[in-house]
Amino acid sequence: MGKYIIAGNWKMNKLPSETYDYVKEVAEATKGAACEVVCCTPFVNLSEAVKAAEGTHVKIGAENLHFEDSGAYTGEVSADMLCDLKVDYVIIGHSERRQYFAETDETVNLKAKKALEKGLIPIICVGESLDQREAGVTMELITGQIKKAFDGISKTDAAKVVVAYEPIWAIGTGKTATAEQAEEVCAGIRNVLTELYDDSCAAEITIQYGGSMNAKNAAELLAKENIDGGLIGGASLKSADFAVIVAAAK
Ligand code: 13P
Repeated sequence: MGKYIIAGNWKMNKLPSETYDYVKEVAEATKGAACEVVCCTPFVNLSEAVKAAEGTHVKIGAENLHFEDSGAYTGEVSADMLCDLKVDYVIIGHSERRQYFAETDETVNLKAKKALEKGLIPIICVGESLDQREAGVTMELITGQIKKAFDGISKTDAAKVVVAYEPIWAIGTGKTATAEQAEEVCAGIRNVLTELYDDSCAAEITIQYGGSMNAKNAAELLAKENIDGGLIGGASLKSADFAVIVAAAK
């Protein structure tokens, strides 16, 4: 389906001073990768990460951005700032940002539109909580998240977006969704995108799975028809583990 992309989400881990060597390590460990390899790092690590990735196949992403161009937004980082650093990707609407930093479907949409306007590739995260899964409202919730995230985005721009399906109950818990559960929701997301745009646009969009993906379970998840990659937290912090996941994405 979409282009295979394995992206590491470092979250609030690794120091700026550790970043150059670690990105070089990732580049070396994933040499010859058959998929796109991305490291998403904290803002303050980005310039070292970009420097280390230069001349390699590794691409660099940020973990958030602000939707305004500039101005009095203390503590925030704009799309232009990320572009100026030569960052290619940006994670938007991660469940940790929705949960702890008041990210909403509306700000996710504004951020996605700003990222696309400036030429950054948004990785838009969606996913349900355990309560929502148990209440049987998973697909209803995710359909709403996708529709709101893509509101006002043209077909040409939509085809550039990466969607990451991350069930909240699987993040950092060691409790992975089964390959069947992940495929069911990723296929559901592809259907919603077909409804919003058309078949060929939906087929072009990369849909990743994220949530305790690791060196052991990656191959089974990535073999599914509608899973075009992974957004990897914990296992992206060890280059050997990350490289096994990258190698599984063929
Ligand atoms: P873990 O791989 O640590 O579960 O994190 C997943 C995630 O949130 C990636 O964005």
